[in-house]
Amino acid sequence: MKSMNAQANYDILVIGSGAAGLTLALHLSAKYRVALLSKQRLQDGSTWFAQGGIAGVLDEMDSVESHIADTLDAGAGLCHPSSVRFTVEESTAAIRWLIDQGVDFTREGEDFHLTKEGGHSHRRIIHSADATGKAVHSTLLVKVLNSPNIDCFEHHVAIDLIRQPAPEKGRFRCAGAYVLNKNTEEVELLQAKAVVLATGGASKAYLYTSNPDGASGDGIAMAWRAGCRVANMEFNQFHPTCLYHPKAKAFLITEALRGEGAQLKLPDGSRFMGRFDRRGELAPRDIVARAIDHEMKRLGADCLYLDISHKDPEFVREHFPTVYSNCLKYGIDITREPIPVVPAAHYTCGGIMVDHHGRTDLDQLYAIGETTFTGLHGANRLASNSLLECLVYARSAALHIEEHLDSVQAPRRAPDWDASRVTDSDEDVVISHNWDELRRFMWDYVGIVRTRKRLLRAQHRVKLLQREIREFYANYRITNDLVELRNLALVSELIIRSALDRRESRGLHYSLDYPNLRELAMDTVLVPENFANQRQFI
Ligand code: FAD
Ligand code: SIN
Repeated sequence: MKSMNAQANYDILVIGSGAAGLTLALHLSAKYRVALLSKQRLQDGSTWFAQGGIAGVLDEMDSVESHIADTLDAGAGLCHPSSVRFTVEESTAAIRWLIDQGVDFTREGEDFHLTKEGGHSHRRIIHSADATGKAVHSTLLVKVLNSPNIDCFEHHVAIDLIRQPAPEKGRFRCAGAYVLNKNTEEVELLQAKAVVLATGGASKAYLYTSNPDGASGDGIAMAWRAGCRVANMEFNQFHPTCLYHPKAKAFLITEALRGEGAQLKLPDGSRFMGRFDRRGELAPRDIVARAIDHEMKRLGADCLYLDISHKDPEFVREHFPTVYSNCLKYGIDITREPIPVVPAAHYTCGGIMVDHHGRTDLDQLYAIGETTFTGLHGANRLASNSLLECLVYARSAALHIEEHLDSVQAPRRAPDWDASRVTDSDEDVVISHNWDELRRFMWDYVGIVRTRKRLLRAQHRVKLLQREIREFYANYRITNDLVELRNLALVSELIIRSALDRRESRGLHYSLDYPNLRELAMDTVLVPENFANQRQFI
């Protein structure tokens, strides 16, 4: 692993080392010098933990039209049809590329085994048992580490993007980023001709989440501060089944269990999903999570149960080794007893607005993966469409960069980070307190079921927190925790604003004050005051 020199210059700066960042870096490394950043270890994003798999049209009985129809249906009228078609049409090539890289997907005889998840009308999810993310990430990472043109920087956290006027009047360009090197605690300047945000989602805004630490929406916050629009932030997806155990931190029970026949049950052992949707346990996620939430509140239960114990134990152990062994660690044998489960924040459907090439409003700034809003997911993401989106948009952004980078000028030298007026904080407890408070009120007031009153209360609280954070940011030396708290507070503000703007119930946004669906489906687009593409308004 490299240690960065201040003022280093690269052709491309990729911020994020998940499926999206690794894929893009590999596509460009034959021709360009790439710097790849991770604020933690390279494998610490959500990708590593993905269980179920990757959706794609892989079976001859399946079709592009069917995958598109399921995606549109899950998205509750808000998907952009052109983005859905673009992604699904590219699915076979994207998955073929992974197979060519050597990812070891589970086989069934000569063919690949395809599993099913909620909202899919066919078996179309390719997977590596129940640890697909680990298989994908570890394979791509070896290639990245062996590539002479990619320099990887672990424990480097991007703080903010650098914005400069673009040659075209009324527009701005991205010229790099200020980066906190956590090893030296110094802020370094990293400039590149093109910058790519591949920073993952923002589910850490919620107290209970399936996501690893670090899913603090940094990319969305940095892009917003640099003048990019964000959209549909109210649609945070809650996964219906995370393990409920006092000692288990954020462990997901993959939806593929339900795809293979697992049943959701109440504490008395009865099934209930049939009362909520004709597809039962395999209804789209928003419906299942809301049904669980409803039943837990109705019964005053701490959790409900997911039961696969009626299936052959050998089948269960073979297909779900990660879930089996992890539950066993907590004394739960899933081949013999039901698993206690609760919903948890899982996926950020909204994000930085991009086109099909991952281009943002700021010239030379691209964004790919969970940090983006591409129009694919609409009001609710279809299971296993996320890794697919990472792969498809990473390739498409790479192609665009490759076509245009040679005609792009190197950015002007930006000023160094000025730390001359700040001191070390003697009150770090404020940061951890604010972090806990934020995540708790987001869970309580901006969760699965919302009301206007609770949203306004959350808005009031987030503004107070932001005032304190601004003071901290101005006076004290920057730390990773402060960077993340500042970003989480901003992203929470954007989620609340978007939720207040949506006066209907659609997909993942359910409001007791506006229980009906509006006839006209519209995205919630937020435009920053320093919008980077003023030409659009001229
Ligand atoms: P990530 O993989 O989250 O990577 C983000 C990267 O950005 C990390 O390297 C991080 O260190 C870096 N980063 C962030 N901020 C900064 C910063 N400020 N400076 C420097 N670096 C930064 N989807 C599916 O399609 N199928 C599944 O089966 C599936 N299962 C899932 C299971 C779990 C438990 C979880 C949490 C998610 C699952 N998802 C699944 C969703 C999917 O895994 C993610 O949407 C996807 O992996 C996101 O990839 P990414 O490359 O966008 O970001
Ligand atoms: C899961 O395996 O249940 C997660 C799949 C996803 O989030 O797409």
